[in-house]
Amino acid sequence: MSLSSTYEIDIATVSESKIGAVDFDNLAFGTTFTDHMFICDFKNGVWQKPQITPYQPFLLDPSAKVFHYGQAIFEGMKAYKDENEDVWLFRPDQNLERFNKSAVRMAMPEIDENIFMNGLHTLIDLERNWVKKGLGNTLYIRPFMIAIGSGVIAAPSTQYRFMIILSPAKSYYSGEVKVIIAEHYSRAANGGIGAAKAAGNYSAQFYPTKLANDKGFQQIIWTDDATHTQLEEAGTMNVFFRINDTLFTAPTSERILDGVTRKSLIEIAKRDGIKVEEKSVLVTELVEAAKNGTLKEVFGAGTAAVVNPIVGFSYQDVYYELPKIEKSVAIRLKESITNIQYKLSQDTFGWTVKV
Ligand SMILES: Cc1ncc(COP(=O)(O)O)c(C=O)c1O
Repeated sequence: MSLSSTYEIDIATVSESKIGAVDFDNLAFGTTFTDHMFICDFKNGVWQKPQITPYQPFLLDPSAKVFHYGQAIFEGMKAYKDENEDVWLFRPDQNLERFNKSAVRMAMPEIDENIFMNGLHTLIDLERNWVKKGLGNTLYIRPFMIAIGSGVIAAPSTQYRFMIILSPAKSYYSGEVKVIIAEHYSRAANGGIGAAKAAGNYSAQFYPTKLANDKGFQQIIWTDDATHTQLEEAGTMNVFFRINDTLFTAPTSERILDGVTRKSLIEIAKRDGIKVEEKSVLVTELVEAAKNGTLKEVFGAGTAAVVNPIVGFSYQDVYYELPKIEKSVAIRLKESITNIQYKLSQDTFGWTVKV
C-alpha cells in the first residue's frame, strides 16, 4: 500500500474464501466477484466511515431514488499482476477525475479522493490472490455510486452509497465485430449526459443495440444526434479510423466519453511516430474511403476489450468490408499499452501505480 490512510476503514473479512471454487480459465466477463466489497455512505452532507465487508446483497427502500430517477454512475478500470507478483493499477487518477465529473453532472456528491484511492488500494490488496499473472488476466474494478435516499419525488437524493466491487476477468474477445452506423438512434445529445459514465446512457443503448444484433451486427457506431453525419463512438468504446497512414478519432465533447484507453493510445501513437488527429470523421468520408481503398482500419478502444478491431460496417443497408491487415496499427497499439499495463515494457509515461 503506497497511500497513507486518512480515513480508517472498518474491515470485516470472510471466514473462508470462495476462490477455490473459481475456474479462472473459464470466466464469463463480469459475472464472478471476489470475496469482499468496499462501501461508503454519504448522509447529512458528509461521507461516513468506509467499510470493507464480505461481498453480499443489501437492502434498499423500494422508493430509493436510484430505482426511479436513475441517479447512478460508475467507472471501469483494471488491476494487472506482473511477473514478480506485484499488482498494478493503470491511471487510476483519470478514473477518479471522470467519476467526479459524472457525479457533478448527475447532481451527486463528489467522492473524496482519499476514500476512493484508499478504498481501491485496501480492497485490491486484500484480494491480490484474485489477480492472476499472465497477459490477458486482469481484475476488473467497478467503482459506482447510487442514490439510496427514499421518496418518489423527482429531485436529487440526499443520501448516496459509493461502492467498489471486483471481478476477475480474462481478456475480452468478442469475436469478429461488424458494426452498423446509427442513422436514427443516438447515444448522447448536446446538453445531455453522454460525457458522464451514467447508468442511463447504457440502458438507453440496449434497445437500438438489440435491433442491430437482430440484423447480424455486434455494435453500433454512434453518430451525432443532430445530423447523424459525424462518427462518434462504437458501442461502449471510443472509436478510431485509419485512413491511409493517419489515425482519426473524434475530439471529446459533451457527447463523448473521455476514455482513458483513447487518450493513452493517442499518446502512445504520437510517441511511436504514428500520425494521429483528434478530428471528427464524417460518415460520407468513411464511405468514400472504404470505396477508394484508403480506409485501412477501424477499431474500438476501451478498458474491457483494450482494442477491438472492426471487420466491416453497414450504412444505408450497404455493407463495406475492411481489408485484412497482418500487423495492424490496432494490434501494435494494443501490444504497446498492454506491455505497459503488465510491466513488460518501461512505463515512460508514469501511468502505472503499484498496489
Ligand atoms: C461510452 C463509452 N465510451 C468509451 C469508453 C472507453 O473508456 P475507457 O477507455 O476509459 O474504458 C467507455 C468505457 O468504458 C464507455 O462506456
